[in-house]
Amino acid sequence: MTQLKLNIKNLENFVKHEEIDAILPEVVAAQDILNNANGKGNDFLGWVTLPNEIDESLLASIKRDAEEIASKAQIYVVIGIGGSYLGARAVIEALQTDLDVLDKSRKNPYIIYAGHTLSEDYYSQLLNVLNNYDYALTVISKSGTTTEPAVAFRILKNHIENKYGKEEAKSRIIAITDQRKGALHDIAVKEGYKMYVIPDNVGGRYSVLTPVGLLPIAVAGYDIKKLVKGACEMKAICIQHSSVMDNPALLYAAVRNILYRKGKNIEMMVIYEPSLKYIAEWWKQLYGESEGKDGKGILPHSVTFTTDLHSMGQYIQDGERIMFETVLNVKHSNTNVNIPYDEEDADGLNYLQQRTITEINHAAVEGTTLAHVSGGVPVMKIEMPKIDETILGELIYMMEYACGVSGYMLDVNPFDQLGVEEYKHNMFHILGKKGY
Ligand code: PA5
Repeated sequence: MTQLKLNIKNLENFVKHEEIDAILPEVVAAQDILNNANGKGNDFLGWVTLPNEIDESLLASIKRDAEEIASKAQIYVVIGIGGSYLGARAVIEALQTDLDVLDKSRKNPYIIYAGHTLSEDYYSQLLNVLNNYDYALTVISKSGTTTEPAVAFRILKNHIENKYGKEEAKSRIIAITDQRKGALHDIAVKEGYKMYVIPDNVGGRYSVLTPVGLLPIAVAGYDIKKLVKGACEMKAICIQHSSVMDNPALLYAAVRNILYRKGKNIEMMVIYEPSLKYIAEWWKQLYGESEGKDGKGILPHSVTFTTDLHSMGQYIQDGERIMFETVLNVKHSNTNVNIPYDEEDADGLNYLQQRTITEINHAAVEGTTLAHVSGGVPVMKIEMPKIDETILGELIYMMEYACGVSGYMLDVNPFDQLGVEEYKHNMFHILGKKGY
């Protein structure tokens, strides 16, 4: 039984039931292609059945490594980019807040990212920070040849070896890469690093439930078994049900394609919990890289409300009518803060006394939804009872499955990303790399 629901109540002015009925054969055809693995990119469908195939021994090994790392590192550096980084960051940051870095009661290492940027100032500061803390690292690259993480790893390998000596450094490095090939694979074998494998048939942006996501999430102290359980539960629903009313992934794929065909070319993931920012970043990569090709695809965008209501809110309410919203609506917070009573009531807020901040946030969700719908912006909501590992596992699988279905409805290959190559060629040429 899954906990996550897709609520399309606020779409009634924009999407008619008959339109959903009319698109259903296309949705089910795309689902069949995905389930039967007979469509474009079908050698990258390992993620479809992955949640049930993660064996206990892999989870136990990751847990052991996570405990070992936590016993000797205050900071864990996760090196990777794109699909080799965003899934882990999405889950880890969803389960904490930005203030976690200052929380002295934190038991697990604080996770820091590298290999996702080419900012010299970032690396300079990172090295300064790492001089003052015990740390360990993982370097993640499926191809093993991506420049950004390779540059970061070269810098940090040098630093960690200088700090701890080569032998101890070796015990603080884990490589996650291809089983057989790539520069990272070869370095890891030569240096004798512990290695985890990214399955051949799972592409980067669908890899969060492999060691790519699971190891950093476990090191950060979160329950990867629950994450996998949530994904398994959602998988059963996504694969088995062909009715949109019983299958949130199909319903989501159906309505976003109906809206796209009506000229709604931009989908905004809207979050009201800042901790979900990297869930939105992960989702943007998943949909942007999977669907944005052959001159087609909805542009995935994201906003954090209520913060961005004071910036992007104007455009959304009143600018070009080219977008729709997918709101991640979290029902319960994990903690409580009430508005205190104030004798003088100079700010006029006594009418909110003893209400929780979540109650006020929900009023913002409802008020904004009404405003945007009346302004011509279709709004659907993914109802999340709360933020925890199980629900995040459900969300991840639902989004992945819907992305496969939606990509096939668009008649693109949702599992390649040839468009990412062009900048790399230009950069290599400019840098004078041999052969470019
Ligand atoms: O989804 C993808 O395949 C990409 O975003 C990759 O994850 C990203 O380019 C990083 O590639 P690699 O893991 O080979 O370093």
